[in-house]
Amino acid sequence: MNSNTRIACVMVGLPARGKTYIAQKVCRYLQWLSVSTKVFNVGNYRRKLHGAHQMHSFFDPHNTEGEIARKEAALEALKDMIKWFLEEDGTVAIFDATNSTRERRCMIIDYCKKYDVQVMFIESICQDESLILQNIMDVKLSSPDYKDMDPEKAAEDFRARISHYEEAYETLNEMKNESDYTYAKLINVGSQVMINMIQGYLQSRIVYYLMNLHILPRNIFFSRHGESVYNLEGKIGGDSKLSPRGRKYALALPELIKANLGDQPLTVWTSTLKRTIETAKHLQYPKLQWKALDELDAGVCDGMTYEEIEAKYPEDYFNRDEDKFNYRYRGGESYRDVVYRLEPVIMELERQQNILIIGHQAILRCIYGYFQKLSQDDLPYVKIPLHTVIKLTPKAYTCQEERYKIDIDAVDTHRPKPKRPTDVSN
Ligand code: ATP
Ligand code: F6P
Repeated sequence: MNSNTRIACVMVGLPARGKTYIAQKVCRYLQWLSVSTKVFNVGNYRRKLHGAHQMHSFFDPHNTEGEIARKEAALEALKDMIKWFLEEDGTVAIFDATNSTRERRCMIIDYCKKYDVQVMFIESICQDESLILQNIMDVKLSSPDYKDMDPEKAAEDFRARISHYEEAYETLNEMKNESDYTYAKLINVGSQVMINMIQGYLQSRIVYYLMNLHILPRNIFFSRHGESVYNLEGKIGGDSKLSPRGRKYALALPELIKANLGDQPLTVWTSTLKRTIETAKHLQYPKLQWKALDELDAGVCDGMTYEEIEAKYPEDYFNRDEDKFNYRYRGGESYRDVVYRLEPVIMELERQQNILIIGHQAILRCIYGYFQKLSQDDLPYVKIPLHTVIKLTPKAYTCQEERYKIDIDAVDTHRPKPKRPTDVSN
C-alpha cells in the first residue's frame, strides 16, 4: 500500500440510516488492521458550535440561518480532517454527516482535491420504515440532541428532522454529474450494493467489508479449549491433549451453551489443534475447523515454559514485554501477524449469525480486541481465562459482554505485564 494514500470516506444518507454505525465499524476494522483511521462526526461539531438543543426547524432547508450554521460545522470538520491527514499522517478519514445534496458533495470533492485526498462516498439507503423507527428508538432518543426531553416529543421532532432532509435529499446519481465519483451505495442494509469507480487495495477492502455487514440480532461466544496437558505443565504452544479437568470442561460446555441459546442455530468454529477439537467434541452443532484459528506460533520457543524462555532467550523475553503486540518470536509470529491472518475470520464473523469459537489465548485476544475496540497495548494482555465462556451481543455502537465461568478448576495462564522500575534518568 502506498504510504501517501489518503482516503476520505464520506457518508451519505438521510438521518437514522446507520451512517454513524457504518462509520464506526469501518473505523474499527481498519484500526484493528493498523491503518491509521479517524471518524469526523459533523454532528459533534454542530453541537459544539451551535449548541445541542436544536429543534427540527434548524434542519429545514428553507431556514437560511440554519443552513449557514450547518455548513459552518461541516467546514470546521473538513478543516480538522485535512489537518489530521497532514499533521498526523492519517490514511483513512471517515466524514460522518448526511452529505445529502450534490452541492455539499461537490464542495467536499473540491476541498479534498486541493490536498490530494481521494474521496469515496458511502451512501446508505433504507426504505424499511420499521427499521428506521427502531433506529430512532435505539440511538436517537439517547443522543445529546434530546437530553432530558420527553421521548415521545423527541421521536416526533426527529421524524420532522428526517422530513426536512427528505425535501432536499439527492441520492448519488451518475446521470447528474456524479458519474466519475467513487462510491458504494448500500441499499436496505447491504441486500443490494452498487459500486462505482472503486480503485486501489484499501477502497476494495472497505467495499468488501461493507458488503458483509448485517444487523440481525446474534451472539458471538468465545471459549478457550479446556485445560490442556501443556497448560498444566506451564508450556506454551504445542498440540497437546486436554487434561482430565479440560475433558470435564468439554463435557460441561454443551449445557451452558444450550441454557443460553435454547434451540437457536449455532455453528462452532475450532482451530486445527487437538485441544480445541476435543473441547468441541460433545457439542451437537455444525462444526468448522480453521487453520487461521491455530494458536500464535511461538517459533523456537514452542513447547517451552516462560521460565525456560527467560533463561534461554533473556533479551527476547524482555523485548516481548516492551512491545508485546509487535514482538515476533524467532521463527514464529507476533500478535500483529496473528491479526493479519485472522482478517478473513473477522470478515466471515461479520457475515454470520450465532457462532461459538473454541480457540486459544492469543487468538481470542485478537478477535475479542476487534469487537471490544482494544488498543494494541492492551490487546495482548487481556484476560481470557480457561473454563470461561464469553458472550458478546452486538448493540447499536457497542458490544454487550457477559462472562460465564464453569466451576471446574484450571491453571491460570495469564502473564501480566511486568512492572519495570520507573526510569528516573531524566
Ligand atoms: P444521523 O444522520 O442522525 O446521524 P445515522 O444515519 O448516522 O443518523 P445511526 O446513528 O448510525 O444513523 O443509526 C444507528 C442504527 O442504525 C443502529 O441501530 C444500527 O443497527 C442501524 N443500522 C446499521 N446499518 C444500517 C443500514 N445500512 N441501514 C439502516 N440502519 C442501519
Ligand atoms: O499458555 C497458553 C497459550 O495459548 C500458549 O500456547 C501461547 O503461546 C500463549 O498462551 C499466548 O499468550 P501470551 O501471548 O500471553 O504468551
